[in-house]
Amino acid sequence: MPDSPRDTAHDSRPARTRAGGELFTEERSAEVVAASFARTPDPRLEQVITSLVRHLHAFVKDVELTEEEWGAAITFLTRTGQMSDDVRQEFILLSDVLGVSMLVETINHRTGGTSTESTVLGPFHMVESPPRELGENIALDGKGEPCLVTGRVTGPDGEPLAGALVDVWQANDDGFYDVQQPGVQPERNLRGLFTADGDGRFWFRSIVPRHYPIPDDGPVGELLAATARHPNRPAHVHFIVTAPGHRPVTTHLFVAGDPYIDSDAVFGVKESLIRDFPVVDDPARAVEVGLPNPFRTVHFDVTLLRADQAPPAAQPADVQPTVVHGAPGGRVS
Ligand SMILES: [Fe+2]
Repeated sequence: MPDSPRDTAHDSRPARTRAGGELFTEERSAEVVAASFARTPDPRLEQVITSLVRHLHAFVKDVELTEEEWGAAITFLTRTGQMSDDVRQEFILLSDVLGVSMLVETINHRTGGTSTESTVLGPFHMVESPPRELGENIALDGKGEPCLVTGRVTGPDGEPLAGALVDVWQANDDGFYDVQQPGVQPERNLRGLFTADGDGRFWFRSIVPRHYPIPDDGPVGELLAATARHPNRPAHVHFIVTAPGHRPVTTHLFVAGDPYIDSDAVFGVKESLIRDFPVVDDPARAVEVGLPNPFRTVHFDVTLLRADQAPPAAQPADVQPTVVHGAPGGRVS
């Protein structure tokens, strides 16, 4: 029997005009939205965006997000973008305090326990470090507790890497980098690019670093305050160490005993990167190294992987950790 207009108007059955697409429901929201990306030409983009959708939907369902909370989140992210410019990147800061920066860094620089571990680059390597002679003092502002930093760069089998480049930078005794205080600190204060000697050794004079707060006068600072978190990073010296034929490492040297060593605002601390900075009370040695007596000292050996033995840049999350044969205690990568 043919449909009359009146019959159609009173038909309560679902219209069947769709081409096989599934309508949005609370129960199947993630699957429905993920399916909308099925024709993405770039397979990696499809993998990333559909995984993001699934996790976002799971999160919203987990906390049963209210409309007010959703609005607050949009406002927070908007303000985070508005706070960002050429010298202030509030989104990176947000990534840092959520531990995402550190997770991306760690996933992409697995060492398998066979070389010096990496950590975040941080935002203050924005100028090139000046080349300096071994033994030179990088503390140009005369502040802080004098410290002799020594170390050796080797390959994975302990072979010295002569001529390795050791790029270092750190905050001053007030907890600021030179680039944060133009006109206050000398230019290139507490920065240096050193070339290791024929035995892979490097040494320079500096000060014991101090802990400092990340910028907390924006939305990320408000987030930290609202969650009773402090903004501080434990005291550290930044290093980038490079040598031909080897994988470079970007890392920190942390001061043992720092009050924030277990609560770094950006989660950058790794156990293998913490060192004692013992006091040396030896007038003759002080004269020899060119520091007032007594002074502090720290030793930091750096091991680089060969370029051809580098682990994969990334592994799918469902791959089981692999045992590194020959590593102490059968450590996993
Ligand atoms: Fe830093």
